[in-house]
Amino acid sequence: MEKIPIKHSWAEPYKIKMVELLKMTTPAHRKRAIEAAGYNTFLLRSEDVYIDLLTDSGTSAMSDRQWSGMMLGDEAYAGSTNFYHLEETVRDVYGYTYVIPTHQGRGAENILSKTLIKKGDIIPGNMYFTTTRLHQELAGGIFHDVIIDEAHEASNLHPFKGNVDLNKLDALVKKHGAKKIPYVCVAVTVNMAGGQPISMGNLKELRAYTKKHGIKIILDMTRIAENAYFIQQREEGFSKKSIREIVREICNHTDGATMSAKKDALVNIGGFLALNDPKDYEEASNLVVVYEGLHTYGGLAGRDMEAMAIGIQESVSDAHMKARIGQVIYLGEQIKNFGVPITEPIGGHGIFLDAKRFLPHLDQDKFPAQALAAALYIDSGVRSMERGIVSSGRNPKTGKNYYPKLELVRLTIPRRVYTQAHMDVIAESVENVFVHRAKITGLKMVYEPKYLRFFQARFEKL
Ligand code: F0G
Repeated sequence: MEKIPIKHSWAEPYKIKMVELLKMTTPAHRKRAIEAAGYNTFLLRSEDVYIDLLTDSGTSAMSDRQWSGMMLGDEAYAGSTNFYHLEETVRDVYGYTYVIPTHQGRGAENILSKTLIKKGDIIPGNMYFTTTRLHQELAGGIFHDVIIDEAHEASNLHPFKGNVDLNKLDALVKKHGAKKIPYVCVAVTVNMAGGQPISMGNLKELRAYTKKHGIKIILDMTRIAENAYFIQQREEGFSKKSIREIVREICNHTDGATMSAKKDALVNIGGFLALNDPKDYEEASNLVVVYEGLHTYGGLAGRDMEAMAIGIQESVSDAHMKARIGQVIYLGEQIKNFGVPITEPIGGHGIFLDAKRFLPHLDQDKFPAQALAAALYIDSGVRSMERGIVSSGRNPKTGKNYYPKLELVRLTIPRRVYTQAHMDVIAESVENVFVHRAKITGLKMVYEPKYLRFFQARFEKL
């Protein structure tokens, strides 16, 4: 009998209809540009960038269906048709009852934090995210990391490094009492750990535990379809379930979610807060009027809500997710094969270079990840970003720098934007920088903004 070959290809389930031309620059031009940007890739002009891996946020290519949806914008101040389409879609795909649109994820985080957090409350989470933790703190809460220890080790191969350590959570409940903990914030996937997923098994155990103590679970569902893909690929009993089914099952174990639709949901702007509790919804839908806009637009145009509704449906396609994460893994495997240290297992939205092992001659006070991101930009015009001591910021009480275990450079892959050949260029540039790594020197911070310093801080070469 003829043997049927197994197909491993992750080829894109779409073809390209429109292109955006890229500008090529010289190393001398890029040296000047990064110096003028204070060695912060956030302060570069996009026109000076060749391949932009700063973020996967708002950088996706929309489909022809999403673009045609933009033409169906109902720009009424109140009760836009597109809002009801979005609401219907969130109910259909995620299963939450109430939806409040926001301009992006952090808008939802602000409303959620103000709705659920009282001064002195404790908010456990599976690792911090920059904007999420800040909104919790601004609302008077105190964030506590309850992710498993493995997540803080770049080379630990645990398949679900996003899991919550229930012992850590239990210790918090015993110390502060469940009344002080309004909810556990669960990120799917965990951005700062390298796009690492949480398992369904862990989420179920967390649900049982929190139910017993009257604590809610609120998802940060920014990359939920990517998390669902890892569950499908790695967790027993899920290989035959669709991404759509797994996404729904994740949401079923929770009480609400904040969403930055600029990632999974394939739009350039938008987000929402989703809730099941009518009381919480009442409070949140009142607050949104103060900070974002009426509860049927939340800072978005009707057309943005339409594109989001369509994008949500596209995001839970199995073929889409296979190609999306297939491309990330393709890049990661190449970089790994050059002997470059990266966070493993490879996560959902990017490759995270381990700057501590990449640049062992620089201690953390010299901002190794920030320096490495600048060196990579000079080498090839590939823009990445720091995810280490700069992103981590300072303890608001003591004013001291946090020293995170993970000191990473993130090569974030926008969805449906770059080709396999671009991935090859990126990998070759990372290799080239790795070969010449001994020449990379550290940085000193010369300007530090008060909030989320990584966005606007400036550096000089030591
Ligand atoms: N939660 C997670 C896990 C995120 O990655 C982000 C944004 C947000 C919340 C906030 O959403 O940007 O729409 O306000 N992450 C981007 C990034 C900025 O580059 O990782 P937002």
